[in-house]
Formats: sequence, structure tokens, C-alpha cells
Amino acid sequence: MKAHIQSLLEQTVTTLKQQGIIPEDAAPRIQVDRTKDKTHGDLATNLAMMLSKLAGKNPRELAALIIDNLPASSNVTKVDIAGPGFINFFIDENALANQLQAALKDDKLGIQLPAAQTVVVDYSSPNLAKEMHVGHLRSTIIGDAVVRALEFLNHKVIRQNHVGDWGTQFGMLLAYMEELRAANGEATEIELSDLETFYRAAKVRFDESEEFATRARHLVVELQSGNEYCNKLWREFNDISLSHCHKVYQRLGVSLTRKDVHGESAYNDDLAQVVADLDAQGLLTESNGAKVVFQEEFRTKEGEPLPVIIQKADGGYLYATTDLAAMRYRSKVLHADRALYFVDLRQALHFQQVFSLARTAGFVRDEMTLEHMGFGTMNGEDGRPFKTRSGGVVKLVDLLDEANSRAIELVRSKNPDMDEATLAEIARVVGIASVKYADLSKNRSSDYIFSFDQMLSFEGNTAPYLLYAYTRVVGIFKKAADIDLTNAKIELNEEKEKELGTKLAQFGEVLARMVDKGQPHLLCSYLYELAGAFSSFYEACPVLAADNEAARDSRLLLSQLTAKTLQQGLGLLGIETLERM
Ligand code: ARG
Repeated sequence: MKAHIQSLLEQTVTTLKQQGIIPEDAAPRIQVDRTKDKTHGDLATNLAMMLSKLAGKNPRELAALIIDNLPASSNVTKVDIAGPGFINFFIDENALANQLQAALKDDKLGIQLPAAQTVVVDYSSPNLAKEMHVGHLRSTIIGDAVVRALEFLNHKVIRQNHVGDWGTQFGMLLAYMEELRAANGEATEIELSDLETFYRAAKVRFDESEEFATRARHLVVELQSGNEYCNKLWREFNDISLSHCHKVYQRLGVSLTRKDVHGESAYNDDLAQVVADLDAQGLLTESNGAKVVFQEEFRTKEGEPLPVIIQKADGGYLYATTDLAAMRYRSKVLHADRALYFVDLRQALHFQQVFSLARTAGFVRDEMTLEHMGFGTMNGEDGRPFKTRSGGVVKLVDLLDEANSRAIELVRSKNPDMDEATLAEIARVVGIASVKYADLSKNRSSDYIFSFDQMLSFEGNTAPYLLYAYTRVVGIFKKAADIDLTNAKIELNEEKEKELGTKLAQFGEVLARMVDKGQPHLLCSYLYELAGAFSSFYEACPVLAADNEAARDSRLLLSQLTAKTLQQGLGLLGIETLERM
């Protein structure tokens, strides 16, 4: 409906240009918003206020001209001018009802699909030298939600798991792996099942033995010059590490597969070229033997120039060099329209610098956007970065285990007689959903406090609340299984029916904003409001006990569309629904 009003206003702008009321070259961004107070209509625009200067008229006067020239529409019952020059639209309930009726039969729930784009999404991207920890949780689940929503809107999504699978630390790991294999053969694989311990042990060896350190450095050189034996060892190591990651993805219900892995090492062969190209454009400067780029706009607080280091004095390349190569690949090979990076906000400066450099160097097509979708830190209840009791990094697996056991207690307390198998399955869904939803429902750019108690509560904007709300809606049509709804029609007579209907019709707008801003919390808030609108509707409007069949059937259809929207919405957040809990 919003899009419909927008298009009516676009047509009006064209007409006003033809009449010479507003200048030919005016290109206003037409904004249509939901009104807070429905007595003032359903949708409103500030277009007259935006254009009044250009038109040389006062806003209310221009608003009247806009209304006079608005094409007729059967969806709009009334148009009003309010306050300083807002234009308010009253939407016809029948049009809304028809829209909802159509949504029920549509896979995409009747939403308006945008022009399809190719979107590269860089997310999860853990370092393979270590085990995945909670720091990767946010990137993984926020990125995956946005990916799912983009695909639902028919965009072509190319997932890029830009894993850290290259760098000097691999020499140390390979040297240690070699040593262990020589000592105990097969048992090595078992040691590798705990990468964190493995990494620490390798580091101890590296620090204690000069001979080991020399071997480690030698292995890196061999690896980089393509030595077959070293490469095999390296592949084996990464393979084991990646399979740990994929176990976590599977358990979390994250859609990344092995095909989506395109790590740092994939760009090795391009790095020399990146340096050569920057050099050819005169962008490189020598600084203490290293090759760096200074960009005018990047300076320290003290005003000192802040370089991007491209190649170290010893010839080694850096994180930034790889990112430059990756951007070029994403633009010129993958033909992305947008490249989204779900990476910790602490890397904001890195991305500003490399994005700007990639543009200057012409590594990306002008029309491609580069968007750092940064996120804040996950803190413990003490407000400090989330750590184990002993101060170590929390492994993702341990965190999910704890969520699961707490979910078992929660579900058992509600259903003391439930059999163990059913209970375990429900708790699995609730546990994962709670961890994911707690993260997704917060604005990603702020830090947030990870609290098991809060995320597993049935009160407020939480996974248990929404999952439970869903089971209540489906519970209604379980009782109505034998009612034939083939010829039923949605009617919006009662105030609460209209409110629910209006909320349901907003699904598409919300998704569009979520993928545009890379902010899943917008969808979470919407689903929470939808569940709220349903519960007020259900309180005010009896469904199975409605006064007449037409009202009953219409309310059943509204319930059906609510269930579908909740399920689809949660599905796009990567959250499964339950029939009972
Ligand atoms: N591996 C990096 C880390 O854990 C994240 C990589 C993000 N993606 C990128 N293209 N830089 O910090």
C-alpha cells in the first residue's frame, strides 16, 4: 500500500512539473510513512513541505495542489491536509482486505518484490587457526538472517565465508602438527579436536624452542612457494578446522556450506598484482621499508597521516592487501551490485580505509556499493566482554550446550509430564532460537549484554514469547480443522481486525528496510508487534465463537495469515517454529 501511494505521488510530481509548478530538475525523495494516530489517516507524506521552497508556495497551498492532481485510486477513501502541510491518506478497508486475501495464497505473502540485485555477503569469516568463539556468533547469525531475507526478496546472494586460513601462524601450527604426527601418529587427530588447546601448545613450543621456531618459519616460506608437502599438511589442518565450524553452523541452523568458503588464501595469487597496480597508479609510498598508501582524509587525532600497509619490509602481505584483492574479485568477477561486510565494529577504520582506497584505485565498479555492517561487542552481565569464569574465551559449543540445558529446564517446568524425546526436541529449538533471537533483536551497532535469564524469558521481545505466540495461533485452527474455508473472505470490520490487518500488510516494507540497512532487529520488532496485535485481536474478537460464520471464517483467515507471517518471519531469522511447547 505504501508503494502504491508512493507511485501515485510520483505521477503527481510529473504532472506538477508539466504544469510548471515545480522545476523540471527537482528529484524529491518521496517518503510515505505510517501515521501513529489512525484518526489522521493511515499513511502520510511530507512531500509538500519538502517541495514548497522549490515551488515558491507555502506548504499547505502546495499540498492542496498535489491533492488536486493526485490520480484517482480505489484504494484511497480520503486525502487530507494536516498541520504545517502533511498530506494524510485514508486507506480503504476493502482494498486492504483484498490485499491480505491475495497474500494468503502467495508464497511471498503478497509482498512487492524489488528489482533483483547481486549481493555478496561476507559473514562469519572465522580464523581457522583457532576454534570459533563467541565473537564470531554475531557475524554468523546476523549475516545469515540478512542473507535469507535477501534471497526471499529474490536477490541473487553470493555468500563469502572469508576465513582466515593464511598467515605466519600457520607455520607454527604445521610444525606442531608434524611433530605430533611423528610422535604419535593417529592420535594427532584427537588433539586437533580441541583447536584451542592445540594452538596454545604450538605457541608454547614456538616460544620455548628456537629450533621449533626456525622450522615453523621455514614451513611458512615453503608453504608460500607452493611446496606440495606443506600444502597438503596445511589443507589437512584447515579441513579439520573447517569441519568444526560447519558442525557449529549446522547446530545453529546457519545456511553456510563448504561451497561458500572463499578464504584469505584464495587471493594469494592476486596480491602481487594488487601491489603492482597501486604502484603503477603512483599510490604507493615507502615507509621504513614497507609499501604503504597515505590517503588525505585518514589522519590520527593528532593530525598525523594514517597509512594502509600493503606490503611489509620482509615482503609479507597484510589483511588489507587481501581485502583489496577480495573487493576487486567481488566487483569484477562476481559482478556484485552490493558487497556487505558483517564484521566487528572495531574494524570500522580498516574498512573505511580499504573501501576508499579500492575506489581511488578503480578496483571496484562505481555502481557497486561497499557496506560495512558493523556490530558491537557481546558483553557478559557485568558489562565487560563475555568471558568464562576463569577469564578465557567462551567457545561457541559450550555456550550452546548451556543454552540447551537451560531450555530443557524451562520446557520441563511448563510440561512436567512430557516424554523425554519430545522435550529434548522442543528444548533444542528453544535453546538455539533464544541465543539467536537475543542477538538478532538488538540493534547490531550497539554492544549488548548476553543474559541467559533474559533470553529464555517468556516476557518481552524474546524467542520463547514469539514461539509460544505462534503455537497459540496454530492451536486455533487445530480446533477448526473441519471448517471449509475455500470460499471464505477476509473482512475488516472491528477496530482490532483493522489493526491486525494493517500490521500484516507491513511485512514487505519491513523486509525491504531490513535488507537495505542490514538490521535484523527491524524484523524482530515487527514480529513482536504482530504477535501483540494478534493477541489484542484475539481478546477482542472471538474466532470460533464469533457471532456469525462470515466473521468466524474471516477471523480464521486472519489467524492463518498471522501464523504464516510469523513462521516466515522467524524462518528468515533462521529460527524454526514449533507446533507446541
Ligand atoms: N577473519 C576476520 C576476523 O576474524 C574477519 C574477516 C572479515 N572479512 C573481511 N573481508 N575482512 O577478524
